[in-house]
Amino acid sequence: MPAAEPVIIAIDQGTTNSKAIAVTAAGAVVAQGAAPVEVRTPGPDRVEQDPEQLWDSVCAAVADCRRTPTGPVQALAISNQRESVVAWDRETGRPFGPVIGWQDTRTAERCARLVAEPGADDLVRSLTGLRIDPMFSAPKINELLRTAGAPVDRIAVGTVDSWLCWRLTGHDHVIEAGNASRTLLFDVDRLMWSHELLGLFGVPESALPAVINSDTRLPTRTELPGIEGRPEIAAVLADSHAALYGQGCTAPGTAKATYGTGSSVMTPVNDFDPEPSPVPTTLAWLTDFPTYGREGNIVSSGAALAWLAPLLGLASVADLLALAGSVPDSGGVSFVPAFGGLGAPHWLRDAEPTFAGLSAGTTRAQLARAAVDAVAHQVADVIDTITGEGVAIDQLRVDGGVTASTLVMQTQADLLGLEVRVAPVPEVSAVGAARLAWASLGAADAWPDLDQDPAGVFAPAIGADEREARRDRWRTAIGSARR
Ligand code: G3P
Repeated sequence: MPAAEPVIIAIDQGTTNSKAIAVTAAGAVVAQGAAPVEVRTPGPDRVEQDPEQLWDSVCAAVADCRRTPTGPVQALAISNQRESVVAWDRETGRPFGPVIGWQDTRTAERCARLVAEPGADDLVRSLTGLRIDPMFSAPKINELLRTAGAPVDRIAVGTVDSWLCWRLTGHDHVIEAGNASRTLLFDVDRLMWSHELLGLFGVPESALPAVINSDTRLPTRTELPGIEGRPEIAAVLADSHAALYGQGCTAPGTAKATYGTGSSVMTPVNDFDPEPSPVPTTLAWLTDFPTYGREGNIVSSGAALAWLAPLLGLASVADLLALAGSVPDSGGVSFVPAFGGLGAPHWLRDAEPTFAGLSAGTTRAQLARAAVDAVAHQVADVIDTITGEGVAIDQLRVDGGVTASTLVMQTQADLLGLEVRVAPVPEVSAVGAARLAWASLGAADAWPDLDQDPAGVFAPAIGADEREARRDRWRTAIGSARR
């Protein structure tokens, strides 16, 4: 019997769970595991996680994955939730408190004060591509340093990749460049911490990790369950960026959309563009050279379907999609699911959820259909903004739960006027990290483009006039959701 092929174990540490997959050099996913991780909300503006539990969930996911026998483990790869921060004691390794999660807004007032400082927002945007916002790491890092109750030289801070690398290597205090680009402290053009930004946010450089390339190889000292020896880490990527890489969107022209509670739309670009845009530029990954990404985050997509289903007396989103598919269109109804406002590219934080175009004859099925349209319109809004700024996109590659719906995917192709191709595997972020890890080991030659074997391909089935009419109706509805 031939020996089983070697694998990379790719860990995807997300907000609600950790996953682990085993991937061969030819891109086959031969084992997988998962474990939940708790998210606590001890106050209206607080979102926290226990760093130890987060680490335990990674070990549990790996243990679950290792129940399926594979060939030898060649290396580890990491994809991780972005922007969340953790602080720990350099001497004991013990966390000083909980992870402050990316959705945590306790620093909103401080951010508002910074935005009001003349030139501060422009400085942040010109160096990082991003705007001052409590979602990003810098204000949370300042908070951790102020509340740790220890001298600064004892404190190590970092993002989730930093924490996992520290635990795996035993002592390396590092952050991957794409994760660093989400802190608001990293100059993404010069590829170094910015002293101006460190000063603005009150963060001493000595507390920060060293920035590493995405394909840096790091020896490890910690054993993981079910893995012989201590294989090195061969790649680290932030999760959205890893999905872009996993989808094979490594050169300009392609874009990916990940549909979840919200949606993330991203396309690779060659250069950092500091010009203000509603779809900002971020550093996607750093290998021999930097690859940037334009990324738009949509606040509510799957969440909108999940909200409407029970209101229509339906047991599940699947039932909602079936009902939506029973009518040819929404009958002129538009639904703007501005729960928590609208994110990219509208940035209307005060917008309110709105149904427009209702009539006495509107049916439940048409409301459901309007919700499906909303998921697709919001992605089209981001892509249209990017292409309107001169970035060519010829195709959208998609992943996430709702991509199983042919109705949603056909609607997406129709409203975009672009081909939509569905990823053949669900764990695209972990696959992306594994792919980069194999490349880092110099062994990704056999890696197939995921896109060569899509789970579905959807071509636009409506003409330009109909598309424009539907897009116009949606834009009018967005206008009515403004407050
Ligand atoms: O920016 C936050 C994002 O990285 C979180 O990803 O997969 O944990 O929802 P996820």
